Amino acid sequence: MKVLVVGRGGREHALVWKIARSPLVDEVICAPGNPGTVELGRNVDVSPDDHAALVRLALDERVELAVIGPERPLCEGLGDKLRAAGVPVFGPGAAGARLEGSKGFAKDLLERHRIPTAPSRSFDRSGLAKSFLEGATAWPQVVKADGLADGKGVYICADAKEGRAAVDAIMEERRHGRAGERILIEEFQEGVEASVFAISDGKTILILEPVQDHKQVGEGDVGPNTGGMGVYSPVPHLTRRLHKQIEQRVLVPSIHALRHEGIEFRGILFCGLMLTDSGPRVLEYNVRFGDPECQALMRRWKSDIVPVLVATANGKLEDIEPPVWDSRACVGVVAASDGYPESPRKGDVIEGVSAAERSDDEVVVFQAGTREAGPDLLTDGGRVLCVTALADDLDGARDLAYTAYDRISWDGKFCRRDIGKREESRPDTGNGAQDDALATPAG
Ligand code: AMP
Ligand code: GLY
Repeated sequence: MKVLVVGRGGREHALVWKIARSPLVDEVICAPGNPGTVELGRNVDVSPDDHAALVRLALDERVELAVIGPERPLCEGLGDKLRAAGVPVFGPGAAGARLEGSKGFAKDLLERHRIPTAPSRSFDRSGLAKSFLEGATAWPQVVKADGLADGKGVYICADAKEGRAAVDAIMEERRHGRAGERILIEEFQEGVEASVFAISDGKTILILEPVQDHKQVGEGDVGPNTGGMGVYSPVPHLTRRLHKQIEQRVLVPSIHALRHEGIEFRGILFCGLMLTDSGPRVLEYNVRFGDPECQALMRRWKSDIVPVLVATANGKLEDIEPPVWDSRACVGVVAASDGYPESPRKGDVIEGVSAAERSDDEVVVFQAGTREAGPDLLTDGGRVLCVTALADDLDGARDLAYTAYDRISWDGKFCRRDIGKREESRPDTGNGAQDDALATPAG
């Protein structure tokens, strides 16, 4: 069969890498893809925003499965359009994607279905939002743009002055465009963050292994938020008991809530949580694989992923065996370009990617912000590559990943040197974090 993957980032490189290994797959087409995906399949120069061209491509190529990587085309209904043309799609339609596309919609659904989340108020006028903040007694307060803001629409405000500035940036200056037509002001949640993932066809739900990214640009979690500077899995602070609790209190109720509201969600639900003293609380939903979370998930997913993707797309997940996971740990180190996340420099020559991959059989480099120019590979974005490695434990995986990372060079390359290390300084979350770490089925 032929599979179409939509997107151009590291997440899509990892998806293409995993899908291409399936004996069921003859060819993976990636639209538009990147210099990494072209080595595993065929890149077709169609933008993820050109829905009509993507539908035509899927029909002309007789694609039997389309996997949509990024959130924007999902929110804009690409999944619905492909499905209407008869193409099985892994990824929700626009109705389900609103969970990520509108924080207000997500919050209403969470509250209606009593899924634990931080209390919040929604505003469509900046004056009212600022008056509310003037009257706030507890600080910090969290101000969020309602719509898609490439992960940059959340402001943690220490006092009313910062709160007013955030409201102005979002609603008056329109720093995030139309995403700032509404805002949410949310109670600050104290605790440890965790991400959990479930695949669903709208009825059946499949819980995936936990994976955790590092959001901030600087070591020790300082500096501005990024899309993710690195990733590790398994996640020792997410114990088996805690993960089970999250499954029962958050993941299963979320899919039920969608179903109850008439939304058939066929894809992956990614919940960002805060593990507070009073239990896990949802901070946000995403309706796609995380980047770089996907890179670690694909490395640890041992069995064939394609039957799961196809069954999800066709509403037949109940017939499918759950994935077999590699019991080893994965660490992924993002190699970024100087200036990221504000204004990354581009156009530098990258050397050593093959040498990095040759450093160990268990190393795979996924490309993101890269482009080819003749024989050269050039930087073309903030997050350029993600160097992943598998080993028996996180320390071993980290050593392999950094050894490989050090073989790659370009002017202005940087990374965080503490990926996967934050576990050592984690506080107990008060939710049984001291019990056994989440065991993985031996594979
Ligand atoms: P989001 O895009 O909603 O996940 O927010 C981005 C980041 O902001 C999260 O990963 C958290 O670090 C932080 N954040 C969001 N909401 C809250 C909250 N209510 N309390 C504390 N931190 C938050
Ligand atoms: N790494 C965070 C995200 O993909 O949203």
